[in-house]
Amino acid sequence: MRLILLGPPGAGKGTQSEFLVKHLGIVQIATGDMLRAHVKAGDEIGQKAKGFMDQGKLVPDEILIDMIARRISQPDCKNGFILDGFPRTEPQAEALENMLQEKGMKLDAVVRLVVDEKALVDRIAGRFVCGDCGASYHESNKKPKVEGTCDRCGKTGTFKHRSDDDPEKLKTRLIAYHNDTAPIVPFYKERGLLKEVDGMASMDEVKERILGVLGEDSGGSAVKKRFLSL
Ligand code: AP5
Repeated sequence: MRLILLGPPGAGKGTQSEFLVKHLGIVQIATGDMLRAHVKAGDEIGQKAKGFMDQGKLVPDEILIDMIARRISQPDCKNGFILDGFPRTEPQAEALENMLQEKGMKLDAVVRLVVDEKALVDRIAGRFVCGDCGASYHESNKKPKVEGTCDRCGKTGTFKHRSDDDPEKLKTRLIAYHNDTAPIVPFYKERGLLKEVDGMASMDEVKERILGVLGEDSGGSAVKKRFLSL
């Protein structure tokens, strides 16, 4: 399955991608995470992207399009992928359509998470991440199992807030969403791919809603299903 998860900052794209990766047995391609890895490495892409990201602005299309073209050509994307954070502009959506066509691939669905602005602000304000592996948590909605220790990588004392998660930068990110990203909604609606999901519910409930619009049953992970069919 090839999916796009669309939604404003804090809508739950990363959270739901993590669930879907386990359930569907496909890979997550999170452009924000990829860019943060480049910034951490201090390489050419990271140096170009950092200033935009620090201000909450979108990174130029050509960087993202090139990054995605290379990523979806990798062997682990053969069975499908979830695009989390891409496309975010009309040129990105058009470039994705062309690159998939060239590979004889098609999108199965574009899931748009709809969340109230006040809830977005609360989710972003309460988010903290592991500075080592990037795993994401929330002060009240998603705490680590052991206080101070990352569930994913086991490191302690690495929790921090993302540098773009302050209220001023969030405003800029929301403006970018409304001006540049929201206009791609009709692009996918015209193609019959758009599925709207009300994201104003618990993480588990939103997961069930997404699986519902995808026509997937929530009874087990892809790995478990394959095991049972042996
Ligand atoms: P990116 O990292 O993609 O940030 P974003 O789109 O702003 O999205 P977030 O990661 O903030 O939110 P999310 O929807 O994933 O929510 P999450 O699941 O974490 O991009 C960062 C930057 O990189 C951009 O600003 C831009 O500069 C650049 N960039 C990236 N892609 C680009 C592109 N294609 N083009 C140009 N530039 C690009 O959840 C948020 C919090 O809420 C968490 O704490 C979570 O625990 C909690 N939560 C989640 N779901 C629920 C729920 N149902 N109920 C309660 N709490 C919840």
